[in-house]
Amino acid sequence: MSQARFACLQCPKTYDWLDLRYACDCGGLLEVKHDDPALRKLPELAEQRLTSRKPFDRSGVWRFREAVLPLPESMIVTQPEGQTPIYQSAALNQWAGHSRLSLKHEGENPSGSFKDRGMTAAVSMAKRLGMPVVACASTGNTSSSLAAYAARAGLKAIVFLPAGKVSQGKMAQTLGYGAKGLAIRGDFDDAMQIVRDLAAAGRVYMVNSLNPHRIEGQKTIIWEMLQDRNWEAPDWIVVPGGNLGNTSAFGKAIDEAYAWGWIQKKPRLATIQAEGANPFFRSYSRDFASLEPITAETVATAIRIGHPVNYPRAVKAILSTNGVVTDVTDAEIMAAKLAIDHAGIGCEPASAATLAGVRKLVKKAVISADEDVVLVLTGHMLKDPDAILKNGTLDCTEIDAKAEAISRALDSL
Ligand code: F0G
Repeated sequence: MSQARFACLQCPKTYDWLDLRYACDCGGLLEVKHDDPALRKLPELAEQRLTSRKPFDRSGVWRFREAVLPLPESMIVTQPEGQTPIYQSAALNQWAGHSRLSLKHEGENPSGSFKDRGMTAAVSMAKRLGMPVVACASTGNTSSSLAAYAARAGLKAIVFLPAGKVSQGKMAQTLGYGAKGLAIRGDFDDAMQIVRDLAAAGRVYMVNSLNPHRIEGQKTIIWEMLQDRNWEAPDWIVVPGGNLGNTSAFGKAIDEAYAWGWIQKKPRLATIQAEGANPFFRSYSRDFASLEPITAETVATAIRIGHPVNYPRAVKAILSTNGVVTDVTDAEIMAAKLAIDHAGIGCEPASAATLAGVRKLVKKAVISADEDVVLVLTGHMLKDPDAILKNGTLDCTEIDAKAEAISRALDSL
């Protein structure tokens, strides 16, 4: 049913979507265009697939396959990903000064982050193209996801990580799945450049979100959320921004859902950055005049990125959804994380930037307190145990295993 092709974001050139390429000859980023009129009916098909017993049908990515990546089932590497829950919490509404927040928890994917949605597409594509070595630069979640999917597919995974800047949980997970780690003495942006060079030289298949197929998989975060709301679009969708793959994917998902008649209005996107890693916010503040890369620093190591490679796609996403970009301090991120953890939902620091951002945007009257808002939590609480153990509010007392000591401890509660 699908007629996909690569289209350049900067010039009219198009390419076959099975070409091994990450950019246009002019240097512009590529996006996948799907042109089949039958796509208007895809929500009905996706609904029927929910009753299937096959992982391929039930996957939150592959139930939308005709508008993601039209590969045959035999090529698909699926865990299966997606099918993530949407939470509501009176405590979090109150914390943010709002009344209608929902939180879609992408940390409840197989490897604990939203990356699995893009990775199932990119690794399936590596298999289709016959690429034996897959690689990424990562702050830890992309690498964990790649390591898992590559192991499932029998491919060799090489991951380039900023030395000393990846959380313990992600490091253990990435190496535990069997990836080869190369810890770069530099930051994520340095690692990203290395992988781009290796991919350009044909040494590896690059699965960072520069790869258009990653973006295609990540679109389904939005589609699955809309499906679970009976295609009733919210007023706002709020997402953390680092390398800006998700912002780009969400903008494309919204544009396509609207163009194909799946939704009757476009939600507005709000991308939230950490103050110490905010080149997108700075650019937004200057009407997207240009991107000035910075040296990034933040407690939210997942989004410690100073030179986001998806910038042109993300600008398009914000403009086309009448979106906004803001930033929040590390203290605001950690306060929001504590609130999310104590609501029994839990997430890693980068994900909590969303709630901190909503609180700020409500205070500034950009978001009104009764609008319908969906926050996307991007990573699981256990991804960054240090961020929990360091926060100083934990309550665990070591005592003797004696009835008297225990009774005294209970009396003091
Ligand atoms: N949240 C989490 C938990 C992430 O891991 C990332 C990115 C982001 C948000 C930002 O998403 O890059 O699409 O804007 N992590 C990448 C990685 C960089 O290597 O795991 P983005």
